[in-house]
Amino acid sequence: MSRRFFVGGNFKMNGTVASIKEIAQNLKQANLDPKTEVVVAPPSLYLSVARESFPSNIQIAAQNVFDKSNGAYTGEVSVSQLVDLGISWTILGHSERRTIFNEDDKFVASKTKAALDGGVKVIFCCGESLEQREQEKTIEVVNSQLKALKEKISDWSNIVIAYEPIWAIGTGKVASPEQAQEVHLAIREWLKTQVSAKVSEGIRIIYGGSVNENNCKSLSVQSDIDGFLVGGASLKPGFIDIINSNQ
Ligand code: G3H
Repeated sequence: MSRRFFVGGNFKMNGTVASIKEIAQNLKQANLDPKTEVVVAPPSLYLSVARESFPSNIQIAAQNVFDKSNGAYTGEVSVSQLVDLGISWTILGHSERRTIFNEDDKFVASKTKAALDGGVKVIFCCGESLEQREQEKTIEVVNSQLKALKEKISDWSNIVIAYEPIWAIGTGKVASPEQAQEVHLAIREWLKTQVSAKVSEGIRIIYGGSVNENNCKSLSVQSDIDGFLVGGASLKPGFIDIINSNQ
């Protein structure tokens, strides 16, 4: 089964109105591979500016969303508010949310269900810490993050799984193509046995962690790597090369 290459740009807590408009303009003028699905995730404050500035072939994602409907939840953003702004995706379970804001597997799964139920697609992040990798617990950790999700949802068609080893995020220490492929394959195997062969074959599993224009090609040729979730490099011109790195 052929899976459409997917590249997400996670701006994290970076950007201004001017810089987001500039990135939009650069992408508008670039020759982007039409076979790649491109999604950018600015800070929530700039979602409207992004939706107005990026061309319609680039979708916009939130970096987070809450699992309750509108109400007294100071500081939070609801799924229906994302839909109201024309935002079709959200990132959930990013390791920065899990570690800095103490979001556990259950909460991330609950938010994923709320997003999907409300019509917003999800880039679901999972991945191990350096300590867990050194203890050879990588697959166990990733599987338990997926298991919590499986307990909450049954339809996986609007999910992209982002494997992001925490030790590779923002460190310049990218996983080797073999390391990433090994985990992506293990995720696909888990989905095959725990969900279905159809989901396992069809779902996009993307890699995140220090991806840049120089290392993206060696990762994208791996058979189970279906794209990238890019942090720092999504703010730079090299993002275009990453979008065009599928061969
Ligand atoms: O969401 C993106 C990842 O955290 C990767 O970030 O490319 O800056 O390492 P990075």
